[in-house]
Amino acid sequence: MAFDTAFLDEIRNRTPLASLIGRRHKLVRSGRNWKICCPFHGEKTPSFYVYDDHFHCFGCGAHGDAITFVMQSEGRSFPEAVEQLAGEAGLEVPKQDIQQQQRAQEAKSLTEVLDLVQASYRRRLYQAEGRRGLEYLRKRGLSDDTIERFGLGWSGDGRNLVDELRPYNVTADMLVRSGVLRSDEQGRPQGELFFNRVTFPIRDRRGRLVSFGGRTLGDGQPKYLNGPETALFSKRRMLYNVDYAREAVHRGEELIVVEGYMDVIALDQAGFHGGVAPLGTALGDEQFMLLWRMAASPILCLDGDAAGARAALRSCEVALPLLTPERRVRFCRLEAKDDPDSLIRRAGAAAMQHALDGATSLAEELFNLLVGGMSSPGPDERAALRERLVALSQLIPDRSLASEYRSTLLDMFFAQFRRRGGKASAPGQRALVSSAGQHVVPGGDQRLRLLTALVLRYPNILPDIEQAYSGLELPSDLEEMRAALFDWISQDDGALTHERCLQGLKRHGLERAARELLAQNGVRARQNQRPGTEGEDLVHEEIIERWWHFYGFLNFEAFEKAVTHDIEAAIRSAYAENSETGGTFPTKLLARMRILDALRRGEVPEAHD
Ligand code: UTP
Ligand code: MN
Repeated sequence: MAFDTAFLDEIRNRTPLASLIGRRHKLVRSGRNWKICCPFHGEKTPSFYVYDDHFHCFGCGAHGDAITFVMQSEGRSFPEAVEQLAGEAGLEVPKQDIQQQQRAQEAKSLTEVLDLVQASYRRRLYQAEGRRGLEYLRKRGLSDDTIERFGLGWSGDGRNLVDELRPYNVTADMLVRSGVLRSDEQGRPQGELFFNRVTFPIRDRRGRLVSFGGRTLGDGQPKYLNGPETALFSKRRMLYNVDYAREAVHRGEELIVVEGYMDVIALDQAGFHGGVAPLGTALGDEQFMLLWRMAASPILCLDGDAAGARAALRSCEVALPLLTPERRVRFCRLEAKDDPDSLIRRAGAAAMQHALDGATSLAEELFNLLVGGMSSPGPDERAALRERLVALSQLIPDRSLASEYRSTLLDMFFAQFRRRGGKASAPGQRALVSSAGQHVVPGGDQRLRLLTALVLRYPNILPDIEQAYSGLELPSDLEEMRAALFDWISQDDGALTHERCLQGLKRHGLERAARELLAQNGVRARQNQRPGTEGEDLVHEEIIERWWHFYGFLNFEAFEKAVTHDIEAAIRSAYAENSETGGTFPTKLLARMRILDALRRGEVPEAHD
């Protein structure tokens, strides 16, 4: 019930049960407690015991607290009993609670209104006026059983509901509030929402009617109309067919998300009872949460057209921040021009099953969506793509899952693009741009080696520089080293130490190459630093700065852009209310700003210290 529990507790505390019952019945002492002849069943010797906070009858099993006692002895409803006791205890029922109460009661009567409307729509489908609708549904391959099971109906010409339901004490206003009648700006009832449409009742998780959808028979627009938001119906929180699907999934069927009403129904008729669909909107986060309450890994089965691809990408972006090891998503893409309904009609249930069997992981889907259109991307495109893949995996809050996604995505990336056109754009020969104008950086290759060596020696800088590092264009041996590094950090949850790093590289057969790279670049452990001292932190910050200096020198444009962007964001956030940084400037950004200045002054990073 919709009362605040704290408020209900307050009422119980302020209503001593013995005095409440004692006012109506004569109490007899029984040790610390009281007893009476049970008011709820006839008896001669008392077996109804009254304790501090509850009563119990050992004769008939009656049991409860103050509120239940008033309900049972005076025939009141729960909210009535609450109000009465609140009054006697000198408490005011919170306004919000009254409103919630009204809403709950209204919701109940709206359900009744919708049930009456549904009965009318269904009756019409089988009358002369609904014949066109019935023929349409049959022509689309629906059996009479299916039409019955989904409660499909016919709206009529849109001029009947008010008169037809008046004898049931249903007012036009109630029809507006249940969403089947339009209203003007002042809320006055206007015409019916659905006319000359086949109607699809929409039910909630518990199978209660909450709204309708309607389809035109011809080419009229809009093709589908969905009921408006009401006290019962919130599109963001609903999925079509959620109640049947829930049962089916409980029995072990797959949970399948499709785009439309007809897809859900066609699936069901073909033996896939776990289909659901959003209602004219893209899948939102609340709908994902609803899906995951039913199944750990629902299959999103989207149309094969460009709109389906867009919907898939959007769904990925919505789902990523919500993923956990227990909340996954799979994707099943149909061929262009197909939706589940047309596939089943054209090729049968087996073809649908085949498509579902080929469902891929979110990571694969994401990769295909982003890379699908690229035939032979240039270095810039590849760098951008890699950054995007890393950024997308960072949307996942679960740390180990995020690194698993990152390494899976990067593996796919390397598998697809390694050694393709790498030579033509060998780094170090590229013209690089600085604020001073265009110039070629000689020895770029050597600096990329040093950048890599720094990461190998001080892998705990990775969290700071990861994104920039992953976007670097590297010669193939360094690229291989980086892939192995990323693989290592995605597998290893321990501290990011040099020793563990070499261990990780060993698994890729790269330990020796790593040691050689370190030696060639003169990167050695610093001496005289005890771990955990202030000095260690200082060194850590220095190394990050040094790394940025080389990086910025080689990639001035990208570096300047990233730093400028982050500065603006930091300033905005420092001035924004409720800012997360609490108004202080992020120190890590300051380091990069120093380097940016140094580069603008033309300072060249020194390879050896
Ligand atoms: P589609 O246009 O893909 O419909 O819209 P469909 O399910 O294949 O329909 P048929 O096969 O032509 O009957 C998919 C879903 O998008 C919403 C509906 O929920 C529909 O089921 N939609 C579509 C609208 O809300 N309004 C529209 O005008 C069209
Ligand atoms: Mn369709």
